[in-house]
Amino acid sequence: MVTELASGVFWVGVVDWAIRHFHGHELSTHRGTTYNAYLIVDEKVALVDTVWEPFQDALIANIREVMGPERIDFVIANHSETDHSGALPAVLRHAPRATVVVSKRGAESVPGHYHAAWNFRAVQTGERLGLGRRELVFVEAPMLHWPDSMFTYLTGDGILMPNDAFGQHYATAFRFNDQVDQEELYEEALKYYANILTPFSSLVPKKIEELLALGVPVNMIAPSHGVIWRQNPLQIVEKYRQWSAQVPEKRAVIVYDTMWQATRRMAEAVGRGLAAGGVPYKIFHAALADRNDVVTEIFQAKALILGSPTQNQGVLPSLLPILGEIKGLKFKNKIGAAFGSYGWSGESVKIIEQHLAECKIPVVTPGVLAKWQPTAEDLAACEKLGRQVAEAVIKG
Ligand code: FEO
Repeated sequence: MVTELASGVFWVGVVDWAIRHFHGHELSTHRGTTYNAYLIVDEKVALVDTVWEPFQDALIANIREVMGPERIDFVIANHSETDHSGALPAVLRHAPRATVVVSKRGAESVPGHYHAAWNFRAVQTGERLGLGRRELVFVEAPMLHWPDSMFTYLTGDGILMPNDAFGQHYATAFRFNDQVDQEELYEEALKYYANILTPFSSLVPKKIEELLALGVPVNMIAPSHGVIWRQNPLQIVEKYRQWSAQVPEKRAVIVYDTMWQATRRMAEAVGRGLAAGGVPYKIFHAALADRNDVVTEIFQAKALILGSPTQNQGVLPSLLPILGEIKGLKFKNKIGAAFGSYGWSGESVKIIEQHLAECKIPVVTPGVLAKWQPTAEDLAACEKLGRQVAEAVIKG
């Protein structure tokens, strides 16, 4: 069903209630998602972004609710990732003379995905495209989150369409931020930022300043996923500014795996130490917890404490994706520690500590190793580790 954002500006996207894994299986989407596309009908007609290819028929049907798709003059491809570009071939079949507007980097990536002889126009920051009463203004946003990413701004109505930025994987009955559960909305917006945008955090404030320096009214922020920020739209800009600073909260996350419960018992003892030191914590079993949810918790916490028994002179395999995320997402302002049980060689704690150091997460106290099942002394050492981490957390 089409939703009119402003006179002649229509949401023609689709709601995907079913999807539970995104980017292949890389990102969990517990609340589904939406693929947002916007149709602007003026003297000229522009479609801003499309949808994932399996939903192309729904997109075309939505466009038909407004007008024939053959009337489209411009398709703005803000970003080539296929959740937004996947229906380009279908749209261009209906509107073969339309011009596909891309960023300079999009001029490589969009043709690289579709190898089609479409009319392309590459634009750079500040370029304008007149539609009649209104214009589109383009702002390149490289690495937010791909090199080709671009924001499109509609004058007159003051609608910013920033593609993935400010988005959420959040399927909802309604299209606007003031119509949905605020707690759910912010959970999804934060998960999106933590898992996708964290490594590019240094670019976020610069892009925000660049946008605000344009001095143009922003009446709505209409991202390519989730709801449209209509009520106080700059609230999500301010949140992004805060999140990009990566100032953690005074709490801890313990992530562990265990074979015969020895490392689990150690994890719980570390937790007791943290609580005794006044620091709240959460414990996640790496093999059972959702990795993206764990990443979101790590993003918010000051301390990350990892535990694994030693297996084959390494850590248990379920820890490896978490170690990979910690490295790839380039978290800042964190502290860490390690623990684990072993039977004979006992390398896991050292491996974790080395990994934390490589990720520029200082290890605040030497790790605890327990042979076979932990003794009362081993558990006391884990509690002490928890208290020491708590002290470091509180000290900031
Ligand atoms: Fe929603 Fe980067 O695609």
